[in-house]
Amino acid sequence: MSGYKRNIMITGGAGFIGSHVVRLFVDKYPEYRIVNLDKLTYAGNLANLKDVEDKPNYVFEKADICDFGKMQEIIRKYEIDGVIHLAAESHVDRSIRDPFTFARTNVMGTLSLLQAAKVCWEEDLKGYDGKLFYHISTDEVYGALQFDGKLFTEETHYQPHSPYSASKASSDHFVRAFHDTYGMPVVVTNCSNNYGPYQFPEKLIPLFINNIRHKKPLPVYGKGENVRDWLYVEDHARAIDLIFHKGKIAETYNIGGFNEWRNIDLIKVIIRTVDRLLGNPEGTSEHLITYVTDRKGHDLRYAIDSTKLKTELGWEPSLQFEEGIEKTVRWYLDNQEWMDNVTSGDYQRYYDEMYKNR
Ligand code: NAD
Ligand code: DAU
Repeated sequence: MSGYKRNIMITGGAGFIGSHVVRLFVDKYPEYRIVNLDKLTYAGNLANLKDVEDKPNYVFEKADICDFGKMQEIIRKYEIDGVIHLAAESHVDRSIRDPFTFARTNVMGTLSLLQAAKVCWEEDLKGYDGKLFYHISTDEVYGALQFDGKLFTEETHYQPHSPYSASKASSDHFVRAFHDTYGMPVVVTNCSNNYGPYQFPEKLIPLFINNIRHKKPLPVYGKGENVRDWLYVEDHARAIDLIFHKGKIAETYNIGGFNEWRNIDLIKVIIRTVDRLLGNPEGTSEHLITYVTDRKGHDLRYAIDSTKLKTELGWEPSLQFEEGIEKTVRWYLDNQEWMDNVTSGDYQRYYDEMYKNR
C-alpha cells in the first residue's frame, strides 16, 4: 500500500498541456501521488515543472509508452489506479513529414499503455473497480468544418485528414475498444487548440511571439483564412480535473472555448500585443507577415461545441481571450531563457530547414 489516496500516472507530463495538468494535480491534491511519465522527446522539458519537482507527492519516470514491459513495471511499482494519457506526437507539420513516428507513438504507444493497464489491473491490482483510463484526444479527429456556423459535437463522425489526426483517431478507437471488449473504465475528451505558457515554439502562437521579438518573418500558411477555436491551457487542465473526478465512464466530452479566430486576425492581435508590451509604436512588426505555401491538406475550420460539458458537469472557460493572450505574450517575453533553451540546437536547424522548403 502506497499510503496515498490515489496513485495517478500522467503521461506526457513534461509537455505543454501535460505540465499544466501535473502542476494542477500535484498542488491541488497532496493526498494523491502523481507519477509523471515522459520520454522527454524534443517537446518534453522538465524545466516546465521546476516549481513542483521537489513536492513529496511528485515522481518523474523517464520512459517510452511504446515499451510494454516498462509500462507494466511502472503501473505495478506505483499501484497506479488512474491514467491520464497525454503523451503523443502533437505537431501536424511534423506528421506530414514523418507519419511513421506518429503511428508508433500515438497508435502503438497508446495500445501498449492500454494493454499494460489491462494486464496489471486484471491480474495484480484487484480489477477495474476504482480505476480509470482517461485519454486526451483532439478536435482534429472530426475533420474540417466549412464556414457555415456548424460545430463539432460528440456525435460528429470521425473524418481525420492529417497523419496526426488519423493517428489520434486510431488511438481513440483503441481506447473505446478496450471498454467495449474488456470492460476497462475509460473516458475520452476532444479539445480544441490550446494556448498559454510552456508551449513548444513550433506551434503558431509561441512561434510568432518569438519571431516578432527577433524581427524574423511570420510564415502565414495560405491566405491566413483558416479558423481555429482557442482555449487557455489552464482551462483545459481544469476540465481534465473535473472530468477525471466526475465524468461518466465510457463517455466522450468535447472541450472548447467557443472562441473562433481566423489565423490572420489572431496574428494581428499577437503582433499588436507584442509591440505594445515591447514599447514599440503600433504597427511596427506588421511588415513581418509573410504568406507562404499552404500546409498540405490544411483543415479549413475547427470549432467545438462544449455544451455537454457545461450542462452535465458545469465547466466553463474562466478566462476571456483578450486576458489570456495578454498573459501568454507577457509570459513568453518574460521567459526568454526558457525560449532560448528550447529553440537552440536541433530545433533551430529543423525550423530553418522547414521554413526554407516553404
Ligand atoms: P506536446 O508535444 O507539447 O507534449 C507531448 C509530450 O509527450 C512531451 O513531453 C513528450 O516528451 C511526450 N512524449 C512523446 N512521445 C512519447 C513517448 N513515446 N513516450 C512517453 N512520452 C512521450 O503536446 P501537447 O500540445 O501538450 O499535447 C498533449 C496531448 O493533448 C496530446 O495527446 C495532443 O494530441 C492533445 N491535444 C493537444 C492540443 C493542443 O492544442 N496542443 C489540443 C487538443 C489535444
Ligand atoms: O485543434 C487541436 C490541435 O491544435 C491539437 O490537436 C494539435 O496538437 C495542435 O498542434 C494544434 O494543431 P494546429 O495545426 O491547429 O496548430 P498549429 O499551431 O500548428 O497551427 C494553428 C494554425 O496556424 C493552423 O491553421 C496552421 C497555421 N500556421 C501554423 C504555423 C505553425 C501558420 O499559418 N503558420 C505557422 O507557422
